[in-house]
Amino acid sequence: MERTFWYRDSVFYQIWPRSFRDSDGDGVGDLMGVYEKLDYIKSLHVDAIWFSPLYPSPNADYGYDVMDYMDISGEYGGMGAFKKVLDGAHERGIRVIMDLVVNHTSDEHPWFLASRRGEEPYRDYYIWRKGKPDGSPPNNWDSLFEGKAWQFDAERGEYYLHLFAIKQADLNMDNPRVREEVKKIMRFWLDMGVDGFREDVITFISKKEGLPDGSRLMPAARGINHYSNGPHLHEYLMEFRDVLDEYDCVTIGEAPLLTPRRALEFIGGKRPELDLMISFECMEGDCISQEYIHHPFSLVKLKLIWERWQRGLRGKGWNFLYLENHDHPRVISRYGSEKFRVESGKALAAAYLFQQGTPIIYQGQEIGMTSIRLESIDQYEDVQTIHNYHRYFTKEPTEKRMQRVWQSSRDAARTPMQWDAGENAGFTSGKPWFRVNPNYPEVNVADQEEDSGSLLNFYREAVRLRKELPVVHYGSFRLFRPLDKKLLMYERRSKSQRLLVICSWSDSAMRVNVPRGYDLTRGKLILRSHGGEADKNGYTAQPWETRVYLFQDRKKPAEV
Ligand code: GLC
Repeated sequence: MERTFWYRDSVFYQIWPRSFRDSDGDGVGDLMGVYEKLDYIKSLHVDAIWFSPLYPSPNADYGYDVMDYMDISGEYGGMGAFKKVLDGAHERGIRVIMDLVVNHTSDEHPWFLASRRGEEPYRDYYIWRKGKPDGSPPNNWDSLFEGKAWQFDAERGEYYLHLFAIKQADLNMDNPRVREEVKKIMRFWLDMGVDGFREDVITFISKKEGLPDGSRLMPAARGINHYSNGPHLHEYLMEFRDVLDEYDCVTIGEAPLLTPRRALEFIGGKRPELDLMISFECMEGDCISQEYIHHPFSLVKLKLIWERWQRGLRGKGWNFLYLENHDHPRVISRYGSEKFRVESGKALAAAYLFQQGTPIIYQGQEIGMTSIRLESIDQYEDVQTIHNYHRYFTKEPTEKRMQRVWQSSRDAARTPMQWDAGENAGFTSGKPWFRVNPNYPEVNVADQEEDSGSLLNFYREAVRLRKELPVVHYGSFRLFRPLDKKLLMYERRSKSQRLLVICSWSDSAMRVNVPRGYDLTRGKLILRSHGGEADKNGYTAQPWETRVYLFQDRKKPAEV
């Protein structure tokens, strides 16, 4: 089928269904809740929803442990509710993207149950190995979520591999039958009208032959060099491409440890395997590799990461732009300022929404939700958070360890969506499955709808503008003052337009000067967070003040 690359002109919205909106009072978000909010989603001017997994699941990793790939969880309302949402979204011109989690399944998936009994054809659907002669696991790999990567199964008398939680058994993608299953799943959803997939940790699906021991220099992810970008990865993705090519759909690959150069191996070239890549580098502004190893936020580091991706993919691939998702604490609490929550939220929005690529907004980001900080580890739900707490830095005082949890927990961004100032933030009429952030009386959708200066309305305006201005789609990217610790300033330039995005990154007021060649009095201030005048060369910026100027070259016609 002829591809239209519609995703390049789109803005996406991510829904983590459990916490979006509960329609039936059981405390868990559901699809009829999403249905009720479709007009709200449309009002953000977004073009597609990516749903985190909606499949039946025992929820050891909240849906990323799938029990049935061709059904929708009863908790979320089942297939009937999904079809209603799909149609309702399509009627509004919103596309729908499913999460495709095929590196692993739940250990309660019927394939696994049959595989553990040694039944054909499922016997080799997973990665089973005998232990070493002394009974210890087959190799030294670590799981990223729970201890070692191997779990002994008494029924089968062998170990199975799980790179994530114990209840997430890795599929054996080297088995052609398993790849056929993946293709069947893809067709099932695409034939139903779904518009694409976000492919969960897709770069982990091919493990090195012989499963050799991992390097000891990788203390918490031993073995990762043998399963990240494994030997048959590109071959398998190309096999899947054959199916995907029958549809005008999008694929977004999630890939830990990704650089721009490596990303192009997936999304560059004439017939790319995938369309967009989720890299983790933009989450490293305040940490090394994972939020658990924290350092103070560095704007300089973040700017250089953004610049590297903007330049690295230009003309060769298309960027995927995000600030938040369900795997990282809220960005205002990390990169912005809770004291200047609204202002820093606006700076962050402008900072990424005017870059080249397809941006995605995570539920609640548009109203500036912040990270929750719970008192004790027992109040947390996330398997990774709980595991990290018990495994690392165990000699530190509890207070320090809880601080690490606050800085790193995925639960920080999984609290219920804050719809209004009523009970449970308008999320549910029952008892919410997880704590509501206590700041909901000040931070909620209803209040921000009423306020033209709210963060919510700033997001709407920024998204509207980015779609209206060709320079955002096509223009080149230039970062000014890369080493300035308190200012983000970049230019997007096309034949007839220049856009100057200026975000001050500080809790204090300061003078901002624009680069030589710019005269602010000749530009049109198309988006701003504050009032205040400017002279030719700059202005006095309030804390976290954001401005976006458009310069139209009068000699050249405006691009459409
Ligand atoms: C991805 C998901 C994350 C999940 C993990 C294992 O990183 O985004 O939420 O826990 O894969 O499936």
